Amino acid sequence: MNIESQHDLISLRRIGRIVANTIKTMQLATKPGMTTREIDEVGRAMLEKTGARSAPQLAYNFPGATCISINEEVAHGIPGDKVVKPGDLVNIDVSAELDGYYADSGASFIVPPTTPKKLRICHSTRMALQAAIDAVRAGQPLNIIGKSIERVAKQKGYKIIRNLTSHGVGRQLHEDPSSITGYYDPRDKRRLEEGMVITIEPFLSSKANMAAKAGDGWTLLAPRGNLSAQFEHTMVINRGKPELITVAE
Ligand code: CO
Ligand code: CO
Repeated sequence: MNIESQHDLISLRRIGRIVANTIKTMQLATKPGMTTREIDEVGRAMLEKTGARSAPQLAYNFPGATCISINEEVAHGIPGDKVVKPGDLVNIDVSAELDGYYADSGASFIVPPTTPKKLRICHSTRMALQAAIDAVRAGQPLNIIGKSIERVAKQKGYKIIRNLTSHGVGRQLHEDPSSITGYYDPRDKRRLEEGMVITIEPFLSSKANMAAKAGDGWTLLAPRGNLSAQFEHTMVINRGKPELITVAE
């Protein structure tokens, strides 16, 4: 969507705050021995309390309120009986709707004990997201996002999961501009516009370039032993710095 009124902006900020607070609370609640279903339950309860609805459930009939992906699972992990272990690299992705407005955010973190390897991929992915946020301005080419992510990934020695992309958001979970690649695509001639609402969500990976759908029909998997991380924010494109929408209070 493109922001057209103060009402648009206020409504988007409201759902953005809910999404960010939900991720933060789920992350703080995550302890070894918990199942991903129990972590999802924390998120589901928070969304319910605020009147928000799970976007993946609403849009795609996803069998959970949030996506929880562990270790070689890259994205779209279904909450279930999987038990969280010490040292797991966990990604929680929350997207939700309130009053017809959608926000989408995600974060990776390590259940202690950490290792330098796992810390480094999380930190580098955060840097890639920040580099893209620092680059996006109204009038700039859309592929500046992939260019910025790719620069950091290369510098740090990581691959990019090429079949997972950033996207427009706001009135739906996924809308135009769709398929904003995490790598530089010179053929993409689209431009960023003032008021445009998008996510940026780099997926950096130790070995894999692609994530494949698992037998459950949802989970996107990399080969065993692969490490990946994702950080995602929803933002509004401005002439100057973008406004981050998925910010916790
Ligand atoms: Co997204
Ligand atoms: Co997301």
